Amino acid sequence: MTPHHTPLLIDGNAVAAQIKADIALTVRRHVAEGHRPPCLATLLVGHDGGSELYVRNKIRACRSCGITSIELQFDADITEGELLREIERLNADESIDGFIVQLPLPSHIDEHRVVEAIDPRKDVDGFHPMNVGRMALGLPAFVSATPLGILTLLRHYSIPTAGKKCVVMGRSNIVGKPMAHLLLERNATVTVCHSHTRDLSAKMRAADVVVCATGRAKAYGAACFAPGQIVIDVGMNVDAAGALCGDVDFAAVEPIVDAITPVPRGVGGVTTQVLLDHVVQAALKATA
Ligand code: GUN
Repeated sequence: MTPHHTPLLIDGNAVAAQIKADIALTVRRHVAEGHRPPCLATLLVGHDGGSELYVRNKIRACRSCGITSIELQFDADITEGELLREIERLNADESIDGFIVQLPLPSHIDEHRVVEAIDPRKDVDGFHPMNVGRMALGLPAFVSATPLGILTLLRHYSIPTAGKKCVVMGRSNIVGKPMAHLLLERNATVTVCHSHTRDLSAKMRAADVVVCATGRAKAYGAACFAPGQIVIDVGMNVDAAGALCGDVDFAAVEPIVDAITPVPRGVGGVTTQVLLDHVVQAALKATA
């Protein structure tokens, strides 16, 4: 008889709590040295429910670490020029260490032009081409928080990447592409799969580590996975019953694999802490 297989639940909230304690301590020390607290500004355009929730979570996380925040809200009909002027103002404002423009933006605004307008030193999301390029070259940079948070989780659980076959599902600029670069930098053999990829499930089953970041609720079930695998689920979706769920069908896949991140309590909390860490880094650099 084979022993009962107990997969490891990768506890993102526990890791996030540790990072948070470190950040709070660093902030306290910085303030004790006579500096103002680090400050993050958030720019939200329109009233997308998901984006409002994400921004609210980031603001709340700042508050509980002693980081101040400024919430800027604009109507969906703000012009690109007005938004660019707002960004110029934040670039020049020395009381703000970093800021984020919550994506997606309304379709009349060119997202690339907006992101390129951000001072790379204040681009705590790591979306500016300067930061993306430096990350791709393996140089110090602000790196997109979700893939960096995933590396933090892997490191925390001593999950190796060197020489491992890693499959990244999804090729977004925010998650899939930077994830592939970062895994490559950590000596993984990386395959990026997307909507045009053939034999998806065979490629997934052959991997040691699978990162799912396609934003498709419970799209990957038992047929996509094999024993021994590590599964990282980036999805933040709502299922047919209205409950928060990942890209992976957790109930079907959890009994098969070696380790898996749940949704919620997986990647999300760590992502937020990585962003806050970037704000603190920007503040420390500005006062060094
Ligand atoms: N939209 C989805 N994820 C993100 C993120 O990490 N930062 C910003 N600014 N927008 C997003």
